[in-house]
Amino acid sequence: MNIHTLLSVKVFQALAAAGVPEAYNAQVRQSAKIEFGDYQANGIMAISKKLGMPTSTQQLAKKIVSLLELDGIARKVEVAGPGFINIFLAPQWLEVQITEALSSPRLGAAHVIPQTIVVDYSAPNVAKEMHVGHLRSTIIGDATVRTLTFLGHNVIRANHVGDWGTQFGMLIAHLKKIQSNAEEKMQLFNLENFYREAKKNYDKDPFFAECARNYVVKLQSGDDHCRQMWRKLVDVTMAQNQKIYDRLNVSLTHNDIMGESFYNDMLPDIVADLKAKGLAVESEGATMVFLDNFKNKEGEAMGVIIQKKDGAYLYTTTDIACAKYRYETLKADRIIYYIDSRQHQHLMQAWTIVRKAGYVPESVPLEHHMFGMMLGKDGKPFKTRTGATVKLTELLNEALERARCLITGKNPNMNADELEQLVQIIGIGAIKYADLSKNRTTNYVFDWDNMLKFKGNTVPYMQYAYTRVSSVLKRSGQDEQQITGNVQLITEQEIQLAVRLLQFEETITTVARDGTPHVLCDYLYDLTVLFSSFYEHYPILNAENKALCHSRLKLALLTARTLKQGLNLLGINTVERM
Ligand code: ARG
Repeated sequence: MNIHTLLSVKVFQALAAAGVPEAYNAQVRQSAKIEFGDYQANGIMAISKKLGMPTSTQQLAKKIVSLLELDGIARKVEVAGPGFINIFLAPQWLEVQITEALSSPRLGAAHVIPQTIVVDYSAPNVAKEMHVGHLRSTIIGDATVRTLTFLGHNVIRANHVGDWGTQFGMLIAHLKKIQSNAEEKMQLFNLENFYREAKKNYDKDPFFAECARNYVVKLQSGDDHCRQMWRKLVDVTMAQNQKIYDRLNVSLTHNDIMGESFYNDMLPDIVADLKAKGLAVESEGATMVFLDNFKNKEGEAMGVIIQKKDGAYLYTTTDIACAKYRYETLKADRIIYYIDSRQHQHLMQAWTIVRKAGYVPESVPLEHHMFGMMLGKDGKPFKTRTGATVKLTELLNEALERARCLITGKNPNMNADELEQLVQIIGIGAIKYADLSKNRTTNYVFDWDNMLKFKGNTVPYMQYAYTRVSSVLKRSGQDEQQITGNVQLITEQEIQLAVRLLQFEETITTVARDGTPHVLCDYLYDLTVLFSSFYEHYPILNAENKALCHSRLKLALLTARTLKQGLNLLGINTVERM
């Protein structure tokens, strides 16, 4: 059930009946305060102004209300203030919707018209360990993927791994060197060292550097042996990264790897085609595209290099090819990229070229869902005490340790297996939730203390609330089929809880549209607070009569399912007991 859509349509029909032109929108929203009803249309003032009748806004609002067909849906519709329309939903109608949501496998969410959506996320680099800089893309991307999939879209995960470029010459040269010294096992295991050593050799040893340059040429021309060495580097890196994905409960697998190398064969044709279309030109030996809408410091059209003098292609060239491939071959209706905001200009340049060349039609959106950085408490980029980048493995290990302290502090006698399970679910959940609950567009301060508390908008709070709801259900001794009878919404708390439960679909629709999992976090938190307040005020198992007890159990059941499903869309697990 999408109440927002339903009411928007109803208000739209009333506007039409009142003679308001179609282009005007009454802006139906969830009300900010209960005094303003459950939903509010607050666009009437703007409409009457545009129609040139600002003095009679109230009258227009009244007219719309008289034409609004909400019989059986609303218990009260009123005009407030200068011309707001406040809609109070009818408990009887809500009762029917709750019953329907309970009997639907998808909590009442309707099927969408399925689109093919490519989501580019995570994208770590080969021969480097994943660090905190990859966390946001990986988990925000995955939450969006899960949400789109749940709604019924055909989602293609694209892990645009950095697996190509001139650095592979030096990496192959280094791999050969340590292989001949039989140190390979030790060294390759520590990717960070491996990369650093390779770079050191490259910089100080001219012979090594010469070999490295030869390997680049050989690798690019498809030399078998070089390919094998390269493959080894990719495989070792991705096997390590897969462990991180699994620990993070991120749904990426080996099959989702579509790295930069994948597009390499397309690049010569792209450059030739851009030249033929008159978009790319030779400039001092390199091939460039000049873009009018991007100006350099001198105020001239900015030049984007797509092929260097030495024939090498660039990151931008690959992104042009990859957008084309996603549309042409993967048949994407929509393409989303989770990449940090510092790469915005890069993407805009690549996509401007893509559009000019006609590789992806305007009807297929290319969306950069950018995000800010993770900061330390000092407001600077999150680093280790010595100033190094924090590896994801280390971050996850620390989360487990801290979760262990939190749980044993609360429950010192827990058995070892149960403790281990809880540590994983709470520790990993805490990091993910702390990140996912922040609006992705800005930087945020990563603070261990705030994410591992049983109070506030945190994962332990939500997971604990979930166990409370499921424990009520267990203590009732009824299994789900035995909870019969109608839902009765009598008290204000029950009505509020019911409305919020029924807003699940519109919440995840927003997340799917904007790629903003924090909207789902806010929703789940709010739902939890509403349930707790309801639960504290009204007995469920000791309700005055059986009918009321069952009605309240149904609300508890739908709350439990919504929390579990909602957290699942965030890639966070729940436990039955803690
Ligand atoms: N590997 C890149 C990095 O670590 C991110 C790639 C993002 N995806 C893309 N299509 N450019 O910065």
